[in-house]
Amino acid sequence: MENVMELPKRSHILGAGFEVPRTVVRNDDLSSVLSTSDEWIIQRSGIRERHYVDDGNGSSALAERAARQAIAAAGLTPADIDLLICATLSSDIDFPGNSSFIQQRLGLGGILAFDVRNQCSSFLYMLSVADQYVRTGGARHVLVIGSEVHSTGIEYADRSRHVTVLFGDGAGAVVVGPSPDDNRGLLTINLHSEGAHAQKLCLLGPASLSKPRLALDWTPDDISGWPQMDGRFVFRHAVTRMGECIEEALAAIGAGKDDIRMLLPHQANLRINQLVAMGLGISDDRMANNIERYGNTTAATIPILLAETLAAGRIHDNDLVCLSAFGSGFTWGAALLRW
Ligand code: ACO
Repeated sequence: MENVMELPKRSHILGAGFEVPRTVVRNDDLSSVLSTSDEWIIQRSGIRERHYVDDGNGSSALAERAARQAIAAAGLTPADIDLLICATLSSDIDFPGNSSFIQQRLGLGGILAFDVRNQCSSFLYMLSVADQYVRTGGARHVLVIGSEVHSTGIEYADRSRHVTVLFGDGAGAVVVGPSPDDNRGLLTINLHSEGAHAQKLCLLGPASLSKPRLALDWTPDDISGWPQMDGRFVFRHAVTRMGECIEEALAAIGAGKDDIRMLLPHQANLRINQLVAMGLGISDDRMANNIERYGNTTAATIPILLAETLAAGRIHDNDLVCLSAFGSGFTWGAALLRW
């Protein structure tokens, strides 16, 4: 008789971990170098503090520590990982991507490892890829990592203050593997992108279009070497798109808004998340946020938040957990998992 390997019906998140650097930068620390204030930052974004790396630590170092915790939380060892997917917009060097360095740090030589570049929505894009590998038998235990060091790539000048105050450093990781129970795990995920708005939140250079000029002429006065954002435009789209894609995910599994037990949104702005939750009728006890302490850590926000929320005992067996993100690209999406 033919020996057919049985494929898992669903993938699930088997463990999560996170790492933030020790140095805490409070709003008042920023107001000593920028024209800003603790009051403005809290009122407009909900952020009170963020963590910055010490010199010499890059996003792959943070990623390694988050990954080791996620692997241990899943009850596994690095030897059990057969695929590594990572995302960052602040890689250690221009190329190769961080996957090479993280692979080396974790001693995972020889396995498939690659980078995903979808900024704040990266975690959901990676989760989708991991899910496909697990369900089609291409991999059994997929390590998924988002890590960022923003503190070395933002401009400490007034023209960038609306960007600079928002971002922090950190890493979050999960292990995705076969769900032990067909009724639990990842139920649905939707992903979207709209390149027409790419320049509403971007960093122009140095890159292939701008490098020759930047390499010759660039001075810190040239804004093209720093992240730029049309904050209000991004804000409006984030609220609308996150609400839409969460409803799309609910419809895909025939569930209603009241069925969501825990909403874990990307952490870009507390007001965005409050408006999304209000639109869905989700009360504070059914949503987790930690932007107050970490700011926006881009690809890392959702896995950091998930690791913290699990550790706090706020997610229980059979809870319907919703993840949603919006960011540069524009890119956005939502996932529903039965825990
Ligand atoms: N401190 C003090 N004043 C400031 C600051 C600051 N840090 N930044 C801007 N201001 C001033 C502005 O100059 C403006 O002054 P004016 O009225 O005299 O012109 C005023 O505050 C209001 O500025 P807005 O930009 O309109 O403020 P807003 O309420 O929109 O908040 C913010 C700005 C926090 C950036 C908001 O627009 C936002 O969060 N946008 C979305 C961010 C986001 O979701 N990004 C996506 C994810 S990130 C990624 O993908 C990498």
